Formats: sequence, structure tokens, C-alpha cells
Amino acid sequence: MRLFSTLVAAPGLAAASSILFQGGTIIAFDNATESLRVIRGGSVLVTDDRITKVSESAISVSKGTEVVDITGKILAPGQINTHFHGWQTAFKTLGSNTSLVEYFNRYGEYAAADLFSAEDVYLSQLAGVLESVNGGVTTILDHAHHTWSNDTSEAGWKASIDSGARVFWGYTFHNITTREPNFLVDEQLANFRALASNPKYKGHPAEISIAYDGFANGNVAEIRAIMDLAQELDIPVITSHHVEGPWPLPNNPELLLSLGLLNSTIPFVLSHASFITPRGMELLREHNHYISITPESEFHYGHTHPTSHLIQDQATIGVDTHFTFSSDILTQTRMWMQTARRTLYAEVLNRSEIPVNNPMSVNQAFLMATRNGGLSLRRNDLGIIAEGAKADLVLWDATSSPSLLGWNDPVAAILLHASVGDIEAVLVDGKWLKKKGKLVMKGYYKEFKEKFLASAERIQNRLVATLAVVPAVGEEWINGLLIGQATEVDAKRGAGTGYGTTFWLRMGRRVES
Ligand SMILES: *[C@@H]1O[C@H](CO)[C@@H](O)[C@H](O)[C@H]1NC(C)=O
Ligand SMILES: *[C@@H]1O[C@H](CO)[C@@H](O)[C@H](O)[C@H]1NC(C)=O
Ligand SMILES: *[C@@H]1O[C@H](CO)[C@@H](O)[C@H](O)[C@H]1NC(C)=O
Ligand SMILES: *[C@@H]1O[C@H](CO)[C@@H](O)[C@H](O)[C@H]1NC(C)=O
Ligand SMILES: *[C@@H]1O[C@H](CO)[C@@H](O)[C@H](O)[C@H]1NC(C)=O
Ligand SMILES: *[C@@H]1O[C@H](CO)[C@@H](O)[C@H](O)[C@H]1NC(C)=O
Repeated sequence: MRLFSTLVAAPGLAAASSILFQGGTIIAFDNATESLRVIRGGSVLVTDDRITKVSESAISVSKGTEVVDITGKILAPGQINTHFHGWQTAFKTLGSNTSLVEYFNRYGEYAAADLFSAEDVYLSQLAGVLESVNGGVTTILDHAHHTWSNDTSEAGWKASIDSGARVFWGYTFHNITTREPNFLVDEQLANFRALASNPKYKGHPAEISIAYDGFANGNVAEIRAIMDLAQELDIPVITSHHVEGPWPLPNNPELLLSLGLLNSTIPFVLSHASFITPRGMELLREHNHYISITPESEFHYGHTHPTSHLIQDQATIGVDTHFTFSSDILTQTRMWMQTARRTLYAEVLNRSEIPVNNPMSVNQAFLMATRNGGLSLRRNDLGIIAEGAKADLVLWDATSSPSLLGWNDPVAAILLHASVGDIEAVLVDGKWLKKKGKLVMKGYYKEFKEKFLASAERIQNRLVATLAVVPAVGEEWINGLLIGQATEVDAKRGAGTGYGTTFWLRMGRRVES
């Protein structure tokens, strides 16, 4: 397997380094007040992997420091995506009109297990992480359910390391019987131990973590084995899908409490947490665990989020299945903030009153996209610009695009006016992963791109050729509820609705080599 390490691609940067950003607007964090602190015309010094100085004025530095003039630009902390499945990049655009029922049968961890070789997983995972980095995400909590064999597991872990990003790669424990040979949790425990203990996979920003949806299955011995291993190997985080109401993944705080796990020293991040109850919220606060709200996904698949706006103090922002929509946290955060606003405004209208204030600020949304992500991992040094914090930074070019002319508040400029195209540079752990608007892969990007495209085409063709049947209206679903029909939109004047066909017909194109 040809590896495309961004770290290998930039060998000169491995040595001790210092970088000074000066002259621009900095969205720093004030430890004392725990709030954003905007500095104009300030400086940030990065030494190796950390921010070593944040100043309101110029800093004098020794020779050998790389000095970056950021006049007119905005230096912000990198965004944190707390829910992702990087391996699914190869399906891009196939799921534009998909539903969760269809997703499980065609694109999910069990259905798709047989479509990917280890190399396919490597390429698809790396593509997903690079896409995120390009869009300003520096930390990802990946629910990596491409653990279908020792080889596919190792491939996704290697890709996460090679990306150079801070990927908390959540090895997923699940019984895979949709691929030969079967791959069951017992063997996965051994595989996980081998990967986590391998010295060759240390010394990068990526950290091996755990994803597990089996709490609700009640196999206490299996849960015990996973938790014991997590404690023994000092795993930084455990993530689990929690989608309730009519949906079938009740890995909720109440359940974790009953299993005696909520007081664990390892943080849990519960993704979606749709329909989380008041008691569940109380438990998260008491034991300091977080949820990952993935707004676009929860709209796209219909999870909805009737109660999530009530637990934003223990909430972060995530992406989920980025082959169906955007992978940047900026878009997600923008959607979420306006959704929360709508929900809270509606309560006032419902009382026949007129709201005087705006219920959610851009600062709050910005913190959810950055600082809260760090806190969900119990990392005080992620998602902020402060002395001592990790140097995970995004430089926004706020001087070029017409959308950004005239900005005053940098937080509002980013959250409401910028697009990912305005991201000029990205650093993780003090290393450039994007610079002058381009990913730092030197000569490797073209070769990587061609390999990924060939792999994605193969996978897409196979998926379409062996298209799985989806349950019909009136049939029973996996959780015993009936399959129903959503009212389809009519977006066309006169006859027809404009729903159209998707562009799957283009399949079969060949990648030029
Ligand atoms: C979306 O479109 C594709 C291609 O036409 C089709 O196979 C698929 O079933 C559609 N999905 C849904 C949920 O309608
Ligand atoms: C997978 O890795 C584990 C741990 O090294 C090992 O015990 C197991 O035999 C491996 N499985 C295969 C099929 O090689
Ligand atoms: C995995 O399979 C074992 C039996 O082989 C079963 O006891 C366990 O509950 C299963 N785990 C999950 C998460 O489904
Ligand atoms: C958590 O609570 C359970 C049940 O009350 C207890 O058995 C366990 O020792 C506690 N664990 C920690 C880390 O405090
Ligand atoms: C509107 O108010 C009614 C009763 O006053 C309540 O039952 C309902 O849940 C409210 N709806 C919303 C969206 O707040
Ligand atoms: C701010 O918080 C970070 C993270 O805890 C810490 O590393 C750093 O020392 C603090 N900085 C100051 C100036 O207190």
C-alpha cells in the first residue's frame, strides 16, 4: 500500500520549529473568564506543538523563527468535529436523497463491509480527513466502523495518523458477519490491543480511541472487556451513537448509569442524542460527558433534535456521514445556531408574544465548534488560542473575498459570512497542513487523488450494481416500527414535482491515468 503521509511529505518541518503570527486579529481565549478574547493587531508565537505566547503587541523573536504577517486576517482556533465516519468518502454524492432506512441497507458499517479492501479504506479515510482539514477542522472524533478485519482496521488508523490531523480514531467493536471471514468482537479486542500498543504508531497527534454501540445490547461480559481494556490502555475517549425516540440506538446516559459506567474516568461522547431526556441531561452535567449534535445529518436523515437545544452546555458539533453533505464544522455550526434560534423564537410566538432578544449568540456557537469539542475530550488545551494550548490553528484570509469586506467582529465574520474557501492556512500540533490555500502534500497530492478516484469509482460501481433492497412502506423495520412515507415536496409549478433522478447514470466513467 502506497502511504501518503503529509508528515513524510514535509520532512523539513519535523525539526524543532517556531512560527510567529503577527499583525492580525486573533480570536484568543481568556482562561480566567472562560470566554473569547478578541485581540487586534496582536501576535501569537508557536513553539513546536504549543502556543507559547499570545500578545496584544509585537513580539521580538530569535532568528530562525518563521514570521507570518497576518495583517487584515483572522487567526482562530481549529474547529473540532466530534462525530465522523471518514472511511465513507468514497460514496460521495450517492446519498443526496437517502434516508436512514436506506442508509443501513446500503452504506452502513455492515452493508458496506464487503465493498472495501484495506487500501480502499486507507484512501477513503485519508480523503475524508484531508477534506476536513482543508475546511478548517483540526480535531476529529472518528467513529471508525470500518473495522471489518485486522487489515482494514490498521489501514484506517494509518490513514488517520498520516493525515497529520488530530484524529481521535475510534476503533469500533461490532460483530461483522457480512464479509468473509467473519470478524467478531473477541478478535477485535486482540486487534485493538495490538494496534494500540504498537510503538510504530506513537508520536503523532492522532490518538487511538473506542467507538461502541453495544451498550444497549446488554452483553455485560463484552462491555466489561471493552471498558477494562480502555482503562488498562488509558484510552482518551469512548463514543457511541445515541438516537432515540422512534430510532433504534438507545445508548443513553440513563443506560450508562445503570451499567455503572457514567462515573468512569474516560469521557463519553454520545452522538446525536436526539430525544435526550431531562434526566439524561442532568446525568451528563453531573458526570461531565458531552453530546455531539450533527445538525445537517439530523435534518438529512430525519433524526430531528427536539430537545438538543436544552443541553448546549454539554454539547459539541459534529458532521457524521460526510459523503452525503458538508464535512466542515463552519457549515454545521451555522445551521445549528439558526435552528436553535428558530426553536427558541417559536416558543415566544407560541405564547402570542414578540421576542425582543436573539436567543443564541455567535460567540456561543463559536465556543461549541471549538472549546466545547476540547472539553468533551477533557482537553483544556484544545479548541482555544491561549498560552500553553496546542497549536491547532486556522488562518482566515479576511482581506480578499467580497463576502468579508467591511467586517468588524471576527467571530461574526467567520460564523456568518465566511466560507471554507476563505481558509488560507491550517496548522495542527504546530505543523502546517495547509498553507497559501493549498494542502501541504507537496508532490503527493496528484498521485493520491488519482488513486482515490480509481478506488471510489470501483466502490461506487459495485454498490450501484448490487444495490440492496430497501424495506417498503407498511413493512416492519429492525426496531419493530412500521416503515412510513414522508410527504414529498412539490417544487415545480404545474404538473410534476421536480424531484427528478439522481446522477447515478454517470457511473462507469473512467479516471484518466
Ligand atoms: C435516491 O435516488 C436513487 C437513485 O435514483 C435511488 O436508488 C434511491 O432509492 C433514492 N433514495 C430514496 C430514499 O428515495
Ligand atoms: C488479528 O490480530 C490479532 C491480534 O494480533 C490476532 O490475534 C489475530 O489472529 C489476527 N487475525 C488474523 C485473521 O490474522
Ligand atoms: C457479538 O457477538 C457475541 C457472540 O458471538 C454476542 O455475545 C455479543 O452480544 C455481540 N456484540 C454485539 C455488540 O452485538
Ligand atoms: C462507579 O460506580 C460503580 C457503581 O456505583 C462502582 O462500582 C465503581 O467502582 C465506580 N467507579 C469509579 C471509577 O468511581
Ligand atoms: C405551544 O403552546 C402549547 C400550550 O400553550 C403547548 O402545548 C405546545 O407544546 C407549544 N408548542 C411549542 C412549539 O412550543
Ligand atoms: C490556559 O489554559 C491552558 C489549558 O489548560 C493551559 O495550558 C495554560 O497554561 C493556561 N494559560 C494561562 C495563561 O493560564
